[in-house]
Amino acid sequence: MTTSDPTFPDLISPVHQPPFSASAPPIFQSSSFLFDSYAQIADVFAGRSDRLVYSRGDNPTVSELEGLIARLEGTEAARGFSSGMAAICGAVLPFVQSGDRIVTVEHLYSDAYRLFETVLRRFGVETIYVDGTDTQAVIDALPGARLVYLESPTSWTFQPQNVAAIAAAARRLGVLSVIDNSWATPVFQKPAALGVDLIVHAASKYLSGHSDTLAGLVAGPKELITRIDHEATHLYGGRMAPMDAFLVLRGMRTLLLRMRTHMESGLTIARTLADDPRVTVVHHPGLSEMPKGLTGCGGLFAFDLAEGVDVERFCNALRVIRLGVSWGGPESLIVPGQAACGLAGAANSFQRFGVSPRTIRLAVGLEPVGTLLSDLGQALNLAGQVAA
Ligand SMILES: Cc1ncc(COP(=O)(O)O)c(C=O)c1O
Repeated sequence: MTTSDPTFPDLISPVHQPPFSASAPPIFQSSSFLFDSYAQIADVFAGRSDRLVYSRGDNPTVSELEGLIARLEGTEAARGFSSGMAAICGAVLPFVQSGDRIVTVEHLYSDAYRLFETVLRRFGVETIYVDGTDTQAVIDALPGARLVYLESPTSWTFQPQNVAAIAAAARRLGVLSVIDNSWATPVFQKPAALGVDLIVHAASKYLSGHSDTLAGLVAGPKELITRIDHEATHLYGGRMAPMDAFLVLRGMRTLLLRMRTHMESGLTIARTLADDPRVTVVHHPGLSEMPKGLTGCGGLFAFDLAEGVDVERFCNALRVIRLGVSWGGPESLIVPGQAACGLAGAANSFQRFGVSPRTIRLAVGLEPVGTLLSDLGQALNLAGQVAA
């Protein structure tokens, strides 16, 4: 696992040296910054100075996090947003216009799907969905497209894509490539090194890691981030707040340790469930071998309960693992697929998101793995036995 690689970028030392040699970054809880003279403010508006002006543009605490994620992802720049969805809007909307086509993969995160199918379709941008495990099918769909949007692995079905092959084809054809890297984090997947243009993070998940904040990030080359900056950060306005940047920075100091535990516990539980006759399928990309491009796995995956195991009783029987959306925090959480499809609202949700009424999504947290295995075991026992 490359997390032990001594070349892995430093998560702990600051990008910008904090004042007073503080060991933790300060929170600059200030909306605006002052000028000493007419000349100073005039220079800023004329583009002759990069002094701080207003936190919807730049804020030092947010800049510290942007510097850190750029360092980890190996990109020139990054921008912080108020949520993962705001970051997805920031990475996609500035680059498309009416008449454009987006290529993406099936079984996408439901709200990204809804963004494409509602807002973007209303503005004349068409999105097509391709089986992401069929690399050639994705590549064949690229000619004429404006943007290819990947999520590797996908939500609920956790199917990885051949990111390097798709990104290389996109670059050859002049198609902008974007990936949601929230699940793998830069600890386990480096999309810029695989040739992807823009990397999106729901920093609400593993990067912050404590279920106490909503935040999003986009990392990429300076030229693209400047375009995002002109439009998304300033005009859409869903900018990351200093306190949220601080919380993500604090969480990221332990990212490496947490990701190791999420991965190891997740794999142990996935393998145990795969051997249990009361579970028919385990949707985990790292069960047999690590897919191309990934050097490790997040702890979020899904499994289908066999007929005869009562889904509702199973969910209600869990004692340690709680029912709750989101993932990436210290606590283990489940979402039953049937309920989640109700939330997404579309009649064809089950096919669209690759979910069956018997699918359970499990976010493995940081509790001792034995405790989680016992909890799942007792809930399976209570929810019913499959006839031998
Ligand atoms: C894969 C993925 N991407 C993006 C998001 C959106 O992040 P946020 O909730 O911070 O808007 C989520 C949220 O659940 C997600 O699971």
